[in-house]
Order: sequence, then C-alpha cells, then structure tokens
Amino acid sequence: MRSLLLVVLSAGLAIAEDGLNAWLRYAPVPGASGNTFPSAIVALNKTKSSPVYIAGQELQKAASVVVGSLDQYMTATNSKYIPGLEVDGFWLNVKGSSVQIVGQNERGALYGAFEYLSRLAQGNFSDISYISNPSAPIRWTNEWDNLDGSIERGYAGPSIFFKDGYVVDNVTRVAQYARILASIRINGVIINNVNANETLLSDRNVQGLGRLADAMRPYGVKLGISLNFSSPRGFGGLDTFDPVDPAVIAFWGNVTERIYHAVPDMAGYLVKANSEGQPGPLTYNRTLAVGANLFANAVKPHGGIVMFRAFVYDNHINESNWKNDRANAAVDFFKDLDGKFDDNVVVQIKYGPIDFQVREPTSPLFANLLQTNTAIELQITQEYLGQQDHLVYIPPLWKTVLDFDLRVEGKPSKVQDIISGERFKRPLGGYAGVVNVGTNTTWLGSHLAMSNLYAYGRLAWDPTSDPQAILQDWIRLTFGLDPAVLSFITQMSMESWPAYENYTGNLGIQTLTDILYTHFGPNPASQDDNGWGQWTRADHNAIGMDRTVSNGTGFAGQYPPEVAAVYESLETTPDDLLLWFHHVPYTYNLHCRKTVIQYFYDAHYAGAETAQTFPVLWSTLKDKIDAQRYEDVLFRLNFQAGHSIVWRDAINEFYFNKSSIPDAAGRVGNHPYRIEAENMKLCGYKPVNVTPFEMASNFRAITTSSKSKSGTASTKVDFPSGTYDIGVSYYDVIGGKAKYQLYLGDKKVAEWKGDNEDHLGHAFSTMLDGHSATRKTSKGVEVKKGDRLRIVGSPDGGELAPLDYVVFLPAGKGIVD
Ligand code: GCU
Repeated sequence: MRSLLLVVLSAGLAIAEDGLNAWLRYAPVPGASGNTFPSAIVALNKTKSSPVYIAGQELQKAASVVVGSLDQYMTATNSKYIPGLEVDGFWLNVKGSSVQIVGQNERGALYGAFEYLSRLAQGNFSDISYISNPSAPIRWTNEWDNLDGSIERGYAGPSIFFKDGYVVDNVTRVAQYARILASIRINGVIINNVNANETLLSDRNVQGLGRLADAMRPYGVKLGISLNFSSPRGFGGLDTFDPVDPAVIAFWGNVTERIYHAVPDMAGYLVKANSEGQPGPLTYNRTLAVGANLFANAVKPHGGIVMFRAFVYDNHINESNWKNDRANAAVDFFKDLDGKFDDNVVVQIKYGPIDFQVREPTSPLFANLLQTNTAIELQITQEYLGQQDHLVYIPPLWKTVLDFDLRVEGKPSKVQDIISGERFKRPLGGYAGVVNVGTNTTWLGSHLAMSNLYAYGRLAWDPTSDPQAILQDWIRLTFGLDPAVLSFITQMSMESWPAYENYTGNLGIQTLTDILYTHFGPNPASQDDNGWGQWTRADHNAIGMDRTVSNGTGFAGQYPPEVAAVYESLETTPDDLLLWFHHVPYTYNLHCRKTVIQYFYDAHYAGAETAQTFPVLWSTLKDKIDAQRYEDVLFRLNFQAGHSIVWRDAINEFYFNKSSIPDAAGRVGNHPYRIEAENMKLCGYKPVNVTPFEMASNFRAITTSSKSKSGTASTKVDFPSGTYDIGVSYYDVIGGKAKYQLYLGDKKVAEWKGDNEDHLGHAFSTMLDGHSATRKTSKGVEVKKGDRLRIVGSPDGGELAPLDYVVFLPAGKGIVD
C-alpha cells in the first residue's frame, strides 16, 4: 500500500487538531498495513469541477480504486447496467485489491468514495458489495447567515458566506464545507437567513452567488437562497408585493433569470412568509399557496424547487382565552391548501408544532397534507439545547419524530415515509437541517456538536439507521478507534439528551429557557403572559396546556383519530408529553407513580447529576486525545456541569415557589454545603437582588461596590476538615473580564477570569441571570475546619465580579449540592 493512509499510519495520534477536517481526517488505522489495497485509481471524469474528479482526489489520499457514474462505468469498462441504483445512489464493490465505486450519477460516485474511505478509516477492510440509495431527494441544510456576516442562532463565529453586506471573495471555507456535506450526502445548501435580506438580489451579490455555487458544485452540493417576500417593493421599487400583480410576477421572473444565469443549477428558493413579522401573501388576502406558487412558476423552467415554510403563526395571541393555541397554527393555515401547491413546492415543517423544543409531539401537519410535498425541518444548531456549550446528541430526539406513526386513514404512516414521498406517492420531499456553521475551525463552535451534523446527513439518507451506530461511526472517524474513547463518548452522548431534558423542561412542558431573550439559560416565567404562545399556564395549583378537544384548544384533534384518541385522554397520554396536552394539578400522579411536582424535582437532580459525570468520563481520555481537542471539550463539559446546576436550582426553586409543595427528598431550597456570598463578611462588595429571583441561590448575590476597586467576601469555614471540591458560583456577564482569587487562609486555591466568552466563543447576557450564571470548581482541596475563606473579586468594565455562593462538596462522595 503506497497511499497517504500508510504514511499517516506512522504519524501517531497526539497531533493537535483544530477540527477543520471534521470526520474526514484520514487518520491512522491500527492494523491497516496487513491488508490489501488497490494500486491504481481510475477516476472516469478528469474535469476538475466534476464530483467524480473530486472522488478520485479523495481516494488518492487513501487508496486506489475505479470510480465513476454508471454511464461512465459502462462505457469505460464495457460492463453491464447495474440495476437498483436510484438518483444519487451508489454501488460499492470491494474484492481484495479491486474496488469499484459506481454512482447512479456523479454525485453518487462521490458519496460512494466517501463511504469507502469511511470504512477504511474505521479499520474495516473486508470485501463487500452493496447498493445504497437515499431515502429522499431533498437533503439540504439551511444556514441562517445574514449579509453583514452575523448568523442568527449561530454559535461558531461569523459567516463563511457573507461579510459586510456582500458575498465573500475567498470561498476556501465554502469549498471545505461542501466537502464535509458531500461526505454525509447532503446535496443542497440554502446559504442565507430565512429572515432574508433583499439586498442579496443586487448584481454584485448575484455574481457572488455564482462564485459560491462554483465552489460547492464539485462536491455535488447545490446552492439555494432564502427570499424576502416584499422584495418587489423593498428592492424592486414597486409599490406592491402582491403575488398576483403582473409587475410583481415580472419582478420575480427577472430576478430568477438573473440568478440562474449566474448559477445554472441553483437548487431553489426557501421562503418564510407571514411569520414573526415577515411579509407574505396574507397581506394582500392571497393564500399561502398563491404565494408559494409565484416562486414555483419562476423556478420551474430551471428545474428549481420552492421550500415554503409552515412556520406561520400569530405571535400576538391572547393567553386569557383558554382556547387560543399557537400549536394549532400550522394545520389551521395549511390544511385547506392541500393540493393547491405546485408540484415543485415542498412545505417545510418543523418537527414539532412550536419551535425546536427539547421534546414536542410530532407536528400533525405531516398527517394533513396528502397531496402536497413535505420536508421535515430539524435543527442542528442547538438554539434551545445549550447552544453548543452543552453536549446534547440530538438524533434520538429526531428519531422519536421520524419513527412516529401518524396512522393516516388508519394505515401505517411514519413521518419518515411521508417526507420521503412514499406514503402519499409524492414526487418530492425530504430534509432541511438548520446548521449555522461559522468561521470557527470546529465549524459549529464545539467538537462534540459535530456528531449532530454528521448524524443529520446519515439520517436524511437512511432514517431507519440507529442513532447510536451512527454516533459510533462518527466517534471512530473523529477520535480514532480506541475502545475507551468509543465507549465513553458513546455513553456521554447517548445520555446527553435525556439529561438535558431532565434538567430543563420535563413532561412536555417545553425547554423552559428564556424565550424573550437569548434561548440559553432558564427562565420559566418567560413562557407565559405574552403573545408568543409558548404557554405553560402554570399557577399555584396546576400546570400544562389543555389541548384536548373536549375541554381545551382542540389541538389533539388535529391528529388522525387513532393518535388523537391517545392524546385526548389523560390515561393514555405518555408521561413525557403529559403537560403538552393536559392541564393538571402539581399533585397529579403520573404513570411512573410520581406526582408532577416530585417528578420535576427528581428529574432535575438526576439530569444535573448525569452532567457532572461528563467531564469525569472525558478526563479519563486525556492521553488518548490530542491536547487541543481534549482541553476544548473539557472546558465545555465543565461549563455544562456547572450550568446544569444553575438550571436545576432555577427550575426547582421556581416551581417550589409557585406550588408551595416541598420536595419529598428535602433538597429543593436546602443546600447544606453552601455558603451564600451575601452572608459573608463583605468589604467593597454589596448584596444585590437578582431577577428573576430563582437565578440566585437564596435569591441574592453580591457585586463590587465600585467599578474600579476590588472587593473581598470572607468567612470562617465551618465544615469538618477533609478534602473538598470547592465550587464558586458566579456570573460571567458581557462587557468585562472580572478577576477572581480564591484563598483558604493565606493559600491561593484558584484564580480565574470571567472570560467564558473567550472559551465558549459567544457571550450570553449583560445581566445577572440564568444565562450568565456559571460555576468554577477546584477539585481535591484540603480544608481545615476554621480556615478563613476569602474571595477577592476585581471588577472589569461592566462586570462587577458578581458572586452567588461557594459550595464545599466532600470529594469523592458523589454529593451534588
Ligand atoms: C425561531 C428562532 C428564530 C427563527 C425562527 C424561524 O423562532 O428563534 O431565530 O427566525 O425560529 O425558524 O423562522
């Protein structure tokens, strides 16, 4: 074997890695040298912009093979037709040193090449022969990039596509991204925010689109764009954007011609209309279908597709009306339009009826559009799931939806079979994943978050795959084949979504994050008393949305009868969606025999405890992972461990306060290992109230009295002498990097800065709240009863070295206070 694979074999594992190559590292494979590899690569297309040429290049990096499209293969080798290949599919045939990779088209050939390489990189050298075809034709990502270079809900730095109002000149990162996407068989990217800026349509930017498409084309990835519905007025200078107005139709026809001139194979348009303040056809009393078809007509001659979003709802609804319900909106708006959309329109539906929450029931719209193409919208960027600072492996959540059987007309109707087009015999359908990569070398801002992107592509190709098996492929490709690495990252990842659900929102109540500000930390009160419709209806006695037909909003009735009956009844609604469908007293007994309130308390303790194990597990891998990725991940897992406790206490305190029902286990509001900062002796520090109240232990914190002078908080330690993990709970706000020093007697135990933003890549809040609350832990500290604890906080800018409490956890006892 004379390939790069062999060369890299001797290179060892410990090189620092920045994540840029994601899972395409072609790293050393133990045992590879004893195996037979092909000795020549014959790529059957030499044009540099062709995916087959790229496939040859990729293979050059590792092995020697024949690769081409079916037509090329038959011509070049006089072989017979290979039956069973579908669009984008491939045949992979490995017999010793003879390898054939044949795609139904060139894109398929490239997918086959990546498949072969993935097998080699995982140490799999066996002979095989199989065909692999996609589940659905549309396997796209959506990027919410703005033209100024910012990214809505992006957590990995600025855009790779835009800067200062224009498409970037240097497309290196765009090509690298397309390579990563091709390796997971993604075939389209919508490159700009659904909240679209019409200046994308300027001549300069349209030329830029051509540049971007050229960079992605060799990887078989097509470019598409989001449109702003009112562009005819805002950009075109017309006095209307009425979709039936001839001038408006002509405007869009012209725009479309210009774009296809620059990008002859443009994938199509994505449209967010009449949603969250965006303009749309309803402004002119035209239906959403009329609006969608306007674009469908324009792109049809070019083979383009219109992805029309079903995320249409009124964000000013009145909570005092018991029957009002945002969850009803999609079906209310779209059901009667079934059959009215053109054949090249695909209605793009978020997996649940609200908005990427930690758990939602499957959107009933999938069961209400029988004569319309549909696609599912998933979110890889972790907007409501910890924003890449919490490890949350999301595919198990996606699988609950993809596997859900909606029983349309009493027949098997899994969501995956509806969106593939199979169930209702639709020509189009598939997957849209909101990714939001940025210029950070890790793409998503976090190495571990990349498992979600990898798995998204794999599930879109084959939704019957097992999330854990996909995860393990990703681990082997990303971190190598060491069994401990495989086992621990698997364990952490598979436990991560249940843990996150446990320490955020339980029983279908939604995530309980702050929906009025950044969707990061806890703020359960933010769900109610506003027009956004993410209500919990929590009061002193009861909680949950009554979505029954008999007494509530009627949402349950949007499902086909068999499913509706399950959700209509308290007895048959699963516990994990109870509060989504029913309004019940806190004392209601769940199927699992706990009361709702006790379940909340217990789940929050359990979830936070699981999160404490993540950095511990990760630490055992120190010698098996390069230092760069090891340290980066460790920082985030420690952050998550601390923030999970912030979540736990905030939610528990909030509902304890609302319900006045104590925790049967006596934990909530009772923290024997803590010393509250406001109870210490303060010098240059002053107590402050925190809002919302549950965001500080005992509801209060301290900040320095001056913006420029240090403060000291001190006290005598009254715990028995021993070894402790000392946690300092503080707030890291935007606008400064305060310095902290922690002393026991004269000994400095720790020193750090409020600079999470430098490590996490994004900052959260200017206030003392659930976004900025965080924890610094010093492990294994020898403490003597009577020691003097002293924290010196030095303010910086607007950050007044805020402190909440100090906790002394007896080391190794598994206590999480
Ligand atoms: C969420 C998200 C917005 C986004 C919207 C959408 O509400 O917070 O940033 O624009 O979804 O999907 O359109």
